[in-house]
Amino acid sequence: MNTLYNKHILLGITGSIAAYKSAELTRRLKELGADIRVVMTTSATRFITPLTLQALSGHPVNTDLLDTDAEAAMGHIELARWADLILVAPASADFLARLTAGRANDLLSAICLASYSPIAVAPAMNQGMWENKATQDNINTLQQRDIHFMGPGHGSQACGETGAGRMIEPEQIIARTLPLFTSGALSGKKIIITAGPTREAIDPVRYISNHSSGKMGFAIAEAAANAGADVTLVCGPTQLTAYPDSIQRIDVITASQMYQSVMDNLSDCDIFIASAAVADYRPGLQAVNKIKKQHDEMQLRLVKTPDILASVASQTDAPYTVGFAAETENVLEYARKKRQKKGIDMIVANKVGPTSGFNQDNNELDVIWQEGHIHLNLNSKKTLARDLIQIITEKINAIDTTQNTGLKTR
Ligand SMILES: Cc1cc2nc3c(=O)[nH]c(=O)nc-3n(C[C@H](O)[C@H](O)[C@H](O)COP(=O)(O)O)c2cc1C
Repeated sequence: MNTLYNKHILLGITGSIAAYKSAELTRRLKELGADIRVVMTTSATRFITPLTLQALSGHPVNTDLLDTDAEAAMGHIELARWADLILVAPASADFLARLTAGRANDLLSAICLASYSPIAVAPAMNQGMWENKATQDNINTLQQRDIHFMGPGHGSQACGETGAGRMIEPEQIIARTLPLFTSGALSGKKIIITAGPTREAIDPVRYISNHSSGKMGFAIAEAAANAGADVTLVCGPTQLTAYPDSIQRIDVITASQMYQSVMDNLSDCDIFIASAAVADYRPGLQAVNKIKKQHDEMQLRLVKTPDILASVASQTDAPYTVGFAAETENVLEYARKKRQKKGIDMIVANKVGPTSGFNQDNNELDVIWQEGHIHLNLNSKKTLARDLIQIITEKINAIDTTQNTGLKTR
């Protein structure tokens, strides 16, 4: 079962005798469909070779913060953004101390410091090191920072002593990793998400469209499904595959088809997220045959397409409605106006530019609702999608609470 399909896991390995178990862990994570990038500390490379981990992960292993070749391929910030989860197994006492102190003097620590993604650690050390007040203080601090601890186990140790500090087995680490990608935060909620571009035919061979890849919408669909929602993804033409399989995907071509699909599925919908780049206009008439190149100039009459977002928001009993605004200038101002004009609950603005927006893996978002605004820094669309779903979940929960208490809603 490919339960970790499409998940990017950065596996950090530090200098512990338990490092040999990381080979098995890598193999199992790969078997479950995860894409694994391994980062080893210098000490870790003394316990197990990078070659082994390269062969098992299928990618070169990164070990050195100041390696110009590795930085040119996939630098430490890129790795930090790439990872959906950073899993450090085994995590040495010294690494935990560096993580606590916020050090960035080795590659793995620097990635952890730069990352916004969840971090999980599977500690491995001598029982005296584990019991030491210094280590215990570090653990308390890290737990307060929401670092996930997996183990350690208790028992006989490689050094001959007995006590707490053994790294838990790869299968136990896997069992604790899987829930990190899922939650029940949106279970019982029905969500419709639109994604990708639309195509408006001019004649049988030509159309009007835009550069939207659908990546943001697909990432939101994945994050919503992982949060337990019942997700319907209405998407325009894209090459992407939707994960997980529980997502109900409806493929459409035109804005009118997208409108119809959304309306057909709207009953009982709790949340509507319109991330598709829907054409605002379509040719008034589609030529039956290919238009020939006859004249120096040609005029195309365009007519407005249906406004999906405004139509959904104007329904009685409308779902919590979230729109997207892709702008090239005055992003916040235009987005705020669009939110009010369409009468929607939330708008997510993104600037279309060379490093974010259409057809990029990364994005930078401003999430705006009536009373507030959050800026989400440049990050992978998958991470941003998770953050966005979390923000929307908080809003929905607040609405549910006020409805239950009879207070004014939204
Ligand atoms: C044979 C041997 C086994 C070790 N095992 C561990 C261990 O299980 N846990 C630990 O915290 N340190 C262990 N150490 C010490 C670490 O390797 C050492 O603190 C190192 O600096 C950790 O570096 P790193 O955190 O950058 O990987 C061991 C050292 C040796 C020589």
